[in-house]
Amino acid sequence: METLKAIARRKSVRSYKPDPVPEEVLNTILAAGCAAPVGMGMYDSLHLTVIQNTEMLGRISEAVKKIMNRGGSPLYGAPVLIIISSRESMPVAGIEYANASCLIDNMLIAATDQGLGSVYIWGAGPAVSSDISLMKALAIPEGFKPVSGLVLGFPESPDMSEKELKITISLNRI
Ligand SMILES: Cc1cc2nc3c(=O)[nH]c(=O)nc-3n(C[C@H](O)[C@H](O)[C@H](O)COP(=O)(O)O)c2cc1C
Repeated sequence: METLKAIARRKSVRSYKPDPVPEEVLNTILAAGCAAPVGMGMYDSLHLTVIQNTEMLGRISEAVKKIMNRGGSPLYGAPVLIIISSRESMPVAGIEYANASCLIDNMLIAATDQGLGSVYIWGAGPAVSSDISLMKALAIPEGFKPVSGLVLGFPESPDMSEKELKITISLNRI
């Protein structure tokens, strides 16, 4: 798929089939994440955790619900959750959020390219980083903290519609 087509077709999907994502497709998406720009090229300040275990997805879903103070199913029944963690001590305050976002957006677009649905899951970071037992169960490396994540999988209702690519956000030109 052309890049602009994938950007136009990407949308947040909030209902998934339980079907697993083929390993080679998942690896393609992870590799797209690893090709993202990262501040000062500090790729070793990042760590990815891929969660496909149903019981663990349920535990994290409950933790996200608690931290976001909301009901429902915050991981939307997706079969894959990817958590992006960052080294805790970074030379520039907040750069870990920018780094995680760059990885996530590459993966969201790559997932669209591969015919999958996906959505950014902000709460996955704080939900896991504030729960020591989840940190241990997920083997988050020492000195790293989960920042945020995304889920992906086959959409319950595939939607191939494309956004019209046009300038919609406030801007000025000098
Ligand atoms: C930083 C960030 C955090 C987000 N966190 C969540 C989230 O926790 N749960 C969710 O359902 N969507 C989340 N989203 C998705 C946005 O709500 C969505 O991208 C936006 O409404 C635009 O819709 P679209 O993705 O379908 O184009 C997040 C998006 C971003 C960029």
